[in-house]
Amino acid sequence: MNKPVILTGDRTTGPLHIGHYVGSLRNRLQYQDSHEQFLLLADIQALTDNAHDPAKVRRSVIEVALDYLAVGIDPTRTTICLQSYLPALAELSMLYLNFVTVARLERNPTIKEEIRVRGFGRDIPAGFLCYPAAQAADITAFKATIVPVGEDQAPLIEQTNEIVRRINAAAGATILPEASAVIPETGRLPGIDGKAKMSKSAANAIPLSASPDEIRAAVRAMFTDPNHLRIEDSGQVEGNVVFTYLDAFDEEKEALTEIKAHYRRGGLGDGKIKARLEEILQALIAPIRESREYLAKDQAYIREVIRQGTERARDRTESTKQEVFERIGLFQM
Ligand code: TRP
Repeated sequence: MNKPVILTGDRTTGPLHIGHYVGSLRNRLQYQDSHEQFLLLADIQALTDNAHDPAKVRRSVIEVALDYLAVGIDPTRTTICLQSYLPALAELSMLYLNFVTVARLERNPTIKEEIRVRGFGRDIPAGFLCYPAAQAADITAFKATIVPVGEDQAPLIEQTNEIVRRINAAAGATILPEASAVIPETGRLPGIDGKAKMSKSAANAIPLSASPDEIRAAVRAMFTDPNHLRIEDSGQVEGNVVFTYLDAFDEEKEALTEIKAHYRRGGLGDGKIKARLEEILQALIAPIRESREYLAKDQAYIREVIRQGTERARDRTESTKQEVFERIGLFQM
């Protein structure tokens, strides 16, 4: 009765925010019972576009682990592990790079878009261009069959499966399983300014550690409908960040439908809808923030969680690497 293996992870580039919560963290809580779950602190992948700031990547390892524990990830049911301490991932990455072409990496839609957004031009770090092969190594080393990722990452799973098929062909047997991307129902949450993506660098995110004042200020500053000038005017729900967030966090769906209709009709001010959202976010974040503050006092415990999880993950990933090297026919000592 082996449970299906799930691998997900986060680049350690900063603490997580409520976008991570709706997009992945709350699903990860569910998977703890039904699946064998590994959570990868992807510090090496974080370096692919942060080589200039290893200190940030290092510090964020603890921050992200704290976020995991604070939302209720249970380290006895989910294995939290650190990429840089799993050498098999690097070894498999190097192997896989011989099974993909530069042209294919450049064509990967995720990579293409990320290169554009980061403005790399021709100066793309080689590690960045190649990270799809490294992510394929992450996924296959655990023999994960389910990979919950944002929609923007789906092409990475597709490329992983291409590599899997090539390795299996080289081995003459199905030694690695293909993986399915599981895209969360709630799509990516926009930033509070209405920009497509919530990110710490754009200062449009609400971190899971936000104080009550920070939450209030963020909701107050939130982008609504710029044409909704007077309360009695009819307001637009689509593209209105407050409603996008209410859709993601408000559990009283019937009341919400009513509120949307009222807003469209006119007579409902932004202050009212913001007050509702603020109350929901304060209630959501308060226990996470408190638990995070409490856990942060015991860094030795956090380190121990990462150490033990990484040890468990090491057994798994080493054995896959060994199997792959052997079955594709490399020299055995
Ligand atoms: N690329 C993922 C992100 O940016 C992080 C990640 C690294 C990952 N390795 C992974 C996700 C393996 C899923 C599986 O969020």
